Order: sequence, then C-alpha cells, then structure tokens
Amino acid sequence: MSLSGRHIVLGVTGGIAAYKSADLARRLRKAGAAVHVVMTPAATRFVAPLTFQAVSANPVHTDLLDPSAEAAMGHISLARRADLVLIAPASADFMARLAHGLADDLLATLCLATRAPIALAPAMNQAMWENAATRANVNVLRERGIHLLGPGEGEQACGETGEGRMFEPFDLVAAAGKLLSDGFLSGLRLLVTAGPTQEAIDPVRYLSNRSSGRMGFAVASAAADEGGEVTLVSGPVTLATPAGVKRHDVDSAQEMRAAVMRYVGGADIFISTAAVADYRPAVPWKRKIKKKQVGFQLELTRNPDILSEVVKASPRPFVVGFAAETEDLAAYAKQKLHAKNLDMIAANPVAEAGVGFDSAENRLEVFWRDGHCELPRMDKRLLARQLLQLIATRYAAGKSGTN
Ligand code: PMT
Repeated sequence: MSLSGRHIVLGVTGGIAAYKSADLARRLRKAGAAVHVVMTPAATRFVAPLTFQAVSANPVHTDLLDPSAEAAMGHISLARRADLVLIAPASADFMARLAHGLADDLLATLCLATRAPIALAPAMNQAMWENAATRANVNVLRERGIHLLGPGEGEQACGETGEGRMFEPFDLVAAAGKLLSDGFLSGLRLLVTAGPTQEAIDPVRYLSNRSSGRMGFAVASAAADEGGEVTLVSGPVTLATPAGVKRHDVDSAQEMRAAVMRYVGGADIFISTAAVADYRPAVPWKRKIKKKQVGFQLELTRNPDILSEVVKASPRPFVVGFAAETEDLAAYAKQKLHAKNLDMIAANPVAEAGVGFDSAENRLEVFWRDGHCELPRMDKRLLARQLLQLIATRYAAGKSGTN
C-alpha cells in the first residue's frame, strides 16, 4: 500500500492506546506519507511529544496558540495541508467535543477547519463505547460523513473484555490507504449481511438453510478493495473476515435484525445477501427434546423482515436485496423489488446446478425500478465486483437525481 506524497495529520488524544500510535506514525511514514502529529494536552500525558517527533520526522503540534507556527495560525495551515485527518486513538471525550463542534484545542479546531476527510479510530472502555451519549455522538459524526475505523473487540487495558479496542496500526494504515484510494466506493459506507441464520428448536437443534456466506463475503471483500468502509453482519459461517472489513457475528434472524438496525444509521448502501430464515420456532424448548416422544408439532412464527425495516430507516440507505428463486426468477424478483420498496434486487437461480447456495460461482439477474441487467455465471468474487459497479452507478444516479 503506497501513501506516497500524501499528507496525513495524525491526531492523538488522551488514552492508553496512544502508545500504539507511535507505531502507527512509523508505519504511515514507511508507506510514504508525510505525517504531521497533533496531540491533545491529555495525549502528552500518555506519550511524550518527542517520541512522535522522532518517528514522524516532523515537529509535533500541541498548542492552539503557537507563536512559532505560520502566522500563529498553525491549525489553518495544517488543516489546508492535510489529505486525511486520522485521529487515533479517538477518546470518548474527543468524539463528544467533535460532535458538538467545539474548538477548544488545536486538534478540535483543525477538524472544524479542514476540508480533508476525517477518520476516527475510537478507543475506550467497552461501557463507555456502549453508553447512550457516545452512541448518539457516533451517529452525529457518521451523519456528518466522518469515518469510523473500529473499534474492535477483545481484552481491554482496564481488564474488561468487549468492544472498544483501537484497531491495530497495520489495519489503520490499510484503512487510510483505502480512504485515499480512487476505488469507485471510496468514501462510501456499506453494510452487508451474509450467510444463513439459525433458529433454535431446543438447545442442540435449529432450523437453518444452505447458505455458506460466500456470496456476501465476496461482496464485502470487493467493496473494501474498492475503497468502501464495510461492516459485515454475518450468520454462522466458517469463512475468514475479509481484509479491512468490520465484522459482527450473529446466530438468529432476530440478532441479525438488531445488528443491522444498530449499524444502518451510518450506511450509505445496504446489501442484504443473507438468507434470513422467514420463520422460527414459536417457543424454543428449554431442554433437549427426548427421542422417546413419538412425534410432535413444531409451531413456527414469522421472523421480522429486515429489509422492510431498513427501507423505513431515516436516513435511508440505498437498499439492495437478493432473491433466491427456483422458478420464474424475473417475475418473483420484480415482485420483491416493489413489495419491499427496494432500490435494486439481485436474483439468483438457486435450482441451477453449480450456482447459488454453497458454490464457488453464481449468476445474477439484477433489477431496479426502470432497468435490468444480466451478470453471467462466474466466480462469486468477480461477480461481486461487477454487481458493486452496478450498485455504485445506480447510487450515484440517485444522488444526482438522474434516475
Ligand atoms: O451464501 P452462499 O452459499 O454464497 O449463497 C448465496 C445466496 C444464494 C444465499 C445469496 O446469493 C442469496 O440469494 N441471498 C438471499 C436469499 C434469500 O433469503 O432470499 P429471499 O428471497 O428469501 O429474501 C429476499 C431478500 O429479503 C433477501 O435480500 C434477504 O436477505 C431479505 N430478507 C429475507 C427474510 C427476512 N426475514 N428478512 C430479510 O431481510
């Protein structure tokens, strides 16, 4: 990944993860970027500015009112020079200040003054990340087009385990590269679902389907390669997380719905590749059902229709559904497009040998309100890229009002 010739302002706020940011500065520089470090006063209590000066090979900026900076307006010259403002770690406090437009230190002021994209790598205790105030701030920041890189899940410095770990420097360099890349999804946030759902019958049995997750993972991977910021909500599958993709695992349709509704506020495009179970056992047995029972009735109840809820979200993303059909592909797909009020639907003929569920290849017939396109049989990874090109074109047409 080359960041050659790019100017990155690396903002460092007060948090224990600041020690990793020295490595991040070093890696950004190694990738060719000119790195200008701006530290908040709290950050300087965790790591000395001299460390960042040594690894970035540039002076470190800490003061808003710095007489030695260009005409005492260092924030303006830094803001103009930046191709990207990357803030890592971004503390809960800093995100709150940014959400409220405060300009009470150099870094916050620079964020108000810059026209460059801003990316945050949050790092905080998991309870702070889950707190309603932080969630509200995150929504405000996402709506303003600020990119959120993470946080990841795992063991935290405070001894707790959960969501709130700063992404590793290696991943942040890759994400910075994507944000600065010219991929056709650059600057867009995509939410993708993949895989089957499992609906519990009892503690050891479930209802599910044959989806392997391959199609959805191919879509997520291709979207990240094209510069998109991708969140993948996946049912139970055995696939590795594609590089640069944020993943959230679920089991049931209800869990998938909750995860999708949690992330959809920040998404420009939603792609529903998952094979969501339409029904679940009305009351799952609490104990394993014993074999000696001769027979029993399994009462099923409808699962929530996730797509139908997403199209009612505000702001509403560009919504792409999938349709797995065994007959009358076009007729059923168009019916779903209109009934679910989708922007686009990609239908696959799952009864055909070698395509659809759990296969390396697929073929798609794609429909939108006033158009149609056939993507012939090919490897799911190539197909995903072609589908995304189509989606990006329709999305752009919608934005410019030409569809
Ligand atoms: O995972 P693979 O093995 O690679 O297989 C890929 C695939 C065949 C699963 C995939 O290409 C595909 O077709 N996914 C959609 C399958 C499906 O559930 O189709 P459907 O016609 O039942 O649903 C239509 C749309 O509504 C889908 O976008 C689905 O995600 C969505 N849906 C369905 C039910 C529900 N309760 N909520 C939903 O949002």
